[in-house]
Amino acid sequence: MTVLVLGSGGREHALALACSRDPAVGQVHVAPGNPGTAAFATNHPVDPTDGAAVVDLARSIGADLVVVGPEAPLVAGVADDLRAAGIDCFGPSAAAARLEGSKAFAKEVMASAGVPTADSRTCTTLDEVAAALDTFGAPHVIKDDGLAAGKGVVVTADRQAALDHARDCLESGHRVVVEEFLDGPEVSLFAICDGHHALPMPPAQDFKRVGDGDTGPNTGGMGAYTPLPWAPENLVDEVSRTVIAPTLAQMQDRGTPFVGLLYVGLALTSSGPKVVEFNVRFGDPETEPLLSLVDSPLASILRAAARGDLSGVEGLRVRSGFAVGVVLASEGYPACPVTGRALTGLEPGDPDVLHAGTRLVDGRMTSSGGRVLVVLGHGETLAGARQESYERLARIDLPGGFHRHDIALRAAEEQARAGLHDTSSPDPTCVGTDKENS
Ligand code: AMP
Ligand code: GLY
Repeated sequence: MTVLVLGSGGREHALALACSRDPAVGQVHVAPGNPGTAAFATNHPVDPTDGAAVVDLARSIGADLVVVGPEAPLVAGVADDLRAAGIDCFGPSAAAARLEGSKAFAKEVMASAGVPTADSRTCTTLDEVAAALDTFGAPHVIKDDGLAAGKGVVVTADRQAALDHARDCLESGHRVVVEEFLDGPEVSLFAICDGHHALPMPPAQDFKRVGDGDTGPNTGGMGAYTPLPWAPENLVDEVSRTVIAPTLAQMQDRGTPFVGLLYVGLALTSSGPKVVEFNVRFGDPETEPLLSLVDSPLASILRAAARGDLSGVEGLRVRSGFAVGVVLASEGYPACPVTGRALTGLEPGDPDVLHAGTRLVDGRMTSSGGRVLVVLGHGETLAGARQESYERLARIDLPGGFHRHDIALRAAEEQARAGLHDTSSPDPTCVGTDKENS
C-alpha cells in the first residue's frame, strides 16, 4: 500500500510513522511534511488545502490511501475531491467536517442525537449574548462559531471580557455560542469511524495552558499522556454508547455520514461525561503518545474505515504501559513565537522525537513554529514514561525554548500513591469496536 499523509506537524509525523510500521505499507508520502518525516518518507511541497493539487499528487504517486491530518483541508472539501477521484481517503466530507467547523452545528447535532453536552445558546446579537451570560452565570464560556485556529474559545469570570470576545466574533461575521461551564477533568477520546461503526482508542489527556500548574494562556497543547490510570474503567464503553454511536447515527440520518477520526473532547462532570467539543481529526499532541502505543496495522485500519467497512477489524491492539509526550516550544509561544533558531542534540530519525515546527536551513535544523518538537517517553508507569521523556528532552537544545515540567505529573503521583505499578492487564490491551451497539 502507498499512503499519503497531508499536513506538516507532529501529528502528521506520528501518523506517517505509524503507517510506515504497518507491514502492508510499501511507501509513505507526506505533503508537505517536515524534516522529521523526510527521514523515512517522501515529502512533497504541495498545499494540503488545494484539492486539485492533492488529487494530482495522489494520482502521480499511486496513493491507495490519503490520511488527512489537519482540519483545514477537511473543511475545504479535500476529502470530497479525493473520493470524487476514486481515491480512498481517511477524513470526513466538508459537510461532516462541520462538526468541528461550526460549534453551532455541533450543538445542533448533539441536541438531535441526545448526546450529553453543556447547555448552550447560539447568538447573533450582543443583547442575546448578554442574556445568555445571565442565564448561565460565571464562569462564562464564549465560543466563536467559526474555525478560529484554537483562539475561538474564552472561559472567563469577567463578564466584560466575555462580551468583548463575543463582540469580536460578531464583528468578524460569526455567530457566538454561549455555554454552561462544565466542571471536571478533561479527557480526549478518539474514535476511528467508517460512517456506521467506531473503533475507539484509549483515552488521553492534553495540557492546554502554556504554564506549569495550568497557568497562562491556552495553546495548541503543551503535552499529553495516555492511557489515564484514573479514568473510570467503563469510560470508553459509556462514551461509545452515549456519544459516538448516536452522533454517527445522526450524521448518517442527515445524509452526511462521518468517515474519519471523531475527536470527542469530554469533561468528566459529577453527572457523567459531557462533550466539550468535537473535532474531526486526530488531536495534537495526544496523537503522538497514542499512536506510539498502537500495535495494530494502522494504515490497513484507516483504509478499511475510508472504504466504509470496519467490520473486519477486531479491535485496536495497544501495547501495555504508558506514553507521555512533552512539547518543546519556542520563546514567546503562544503570543509571538521566535522562530529560526538552531536546534541541536537531535538524532536523525529518532521515532520518539516528533517534529512539529522545524525546518532545515542550509543543512541546519531550525525552529519554524510555536510548537517545535513533541518528545515521547514510555514506561510501565507514568513516572517512568515521564522520566524517559524529560531525559530525552534534556539532551535537546533550543535557545529560548521552553516546556512544561508537569505533564502527567499529578496522575503519575496518584498512580504511585495508589501503588498501581502496572496497567490493568500485562498483555496488550484491546479496545473493542462498538459494532454491537450501533
Ligand atoms: P474547545 O475549542 O471547544 O475545545 O474549547 C477549548 C477549551 O475551552 C476546552 O478544552 C476547555 O478547556 C474549555 N472549554 C470549552 N467549553 C467549555 C465548557 N462548556 N466548560 C468549561 N470549559 C470549557
Ligand atoms: N489537542 C487539542 C486539539 O488537537 O485540538
